[in-house]
Amino acid sequence: MQLLLAPMEGLMDPAMRGLLTALGGYDRAVSEFVRVSQGVLPAHVWHRYCPELLTGGTTAAGTPVYVQIMGPEPEVTADNAAYAVSLGAPGIDLNFGCPSKTVNRRCAGASLLKTPDLIADIIAATRRAVPAGIPVTAKVRLGYEDKEHFLDIARAVEDGGATSVAVHARTRAEGYRPPAHWHYVAEIRAALHIPVIANGEIWTPEDYAACRAASGGPDVMLGRGAIARPDLARRLRDHGTAWPWERIAACFLRYDDALAADDCTPTMRAGRLKQWLALVKQHAATDWPFTPALFEHLKGLTDITAVRAALSDPSGLSGVDTGVPTRG
Ligand SMILES: Cc1cc2nc3c(=O)[nH]c(=O)nc-3n(C[C@H](O)[C@H](O)[C@H](O)COP(=O)(O)O)c2cc1C
Repeated sequence: MQLLLAPMEGLMDPAMRGLLTALGGYDRAVSEFVRVSQGVLPAHVWHRYCPELLTGGTTAAGTPVYVQIMGPEPEVTADNAAYAVSLGAPGIDLNFGCPSKTVNRRCAGASLLKTPDLIADIIAATRRAVPAGIPVTAKVRLGYEDKEHFLDIARAVEDGGATSVAVHARTRAEGYRPPAHWHYVAEIRAALHIPVIANGEIWTPEDYAACRAASGGPDVMLGRGAIARPDLARRLRDHGTAWPWERIAACFLRYDDALAADDCTPTMRAGRLKQWLALVKQHAATDWPFTPALFEHLKGLTDITAVRAALSDPSGLSGVDTGVPTRG
């Protein structure tokens, strides 16, 4: 079973990658996308997106972080990939799935799904530009408007020479709307010779089992579910039950410590913790039932000390039924 941590702009930042890979269970992570359109970006930009380049291309826990590049031009993408590798990237991931309108107007990300030949060219140019031992992987969706060409897209990835492909099992038009169509991944797995990783809508161990059955394989990439349930990868590996809130709260505090060490302002830190809790209460309240109430309490707070205190001890909240026995 391969468990990969998904790239997520604004959510899976270096601090979150550091935390989740330290909790364990992940084989590798992918950076947030770096957009390239002309020329080669300077080192400081690569280091900002992927500070792990400065520590051997891995998180502190030793988990490799592939650098994700998104660009419409084969040669520009390839030159940037070669540079990222020279800076220490252990692998390059190419983004063909980003649905952002700005990105797609410039014909990068998901709009490339309309031209599988160009996908193959971008991958082939990148493959030629980086040393043979460095993996070049791709991340795709099932199509742009519809799924008619999903196999053409997948074959283009293989023809271009990619090492493996992660498939977000939706079209660009479907955005992030459930469900993810995992059974298409089974057809891709049957058609390709390279490893195929299923992605989309895996929030719980039960979802993982359903995805594994529908997609015909054990390898998955976890995105929002990895953040909503920080214990998810460990539970998939160890078949354990949900962690007690104390452990989850400790994760929040550790993440905040990492943000503070990265010179994040206290207000930004409070915002990031609330953003995280919003995902937990929306998708993981079955495990921690008081999180919607906790979020209601937190959402008006901007003081980082108060936010940290409430997260660490929700039983202390007044006027809010946290579902946790009051201490003392
Ligand atoms: C806020 C956000 C940012 C994302 N940023 C990226 C990105 O930078 N590169 C990429 O390939 N996919 C990106 N994605 C897509 C995710 O990697 C993943 O394919 C998608 O969220 C489905 O998986 P999930 O249901 O496990 O979250 C992003 C998704 C979200 C929600």
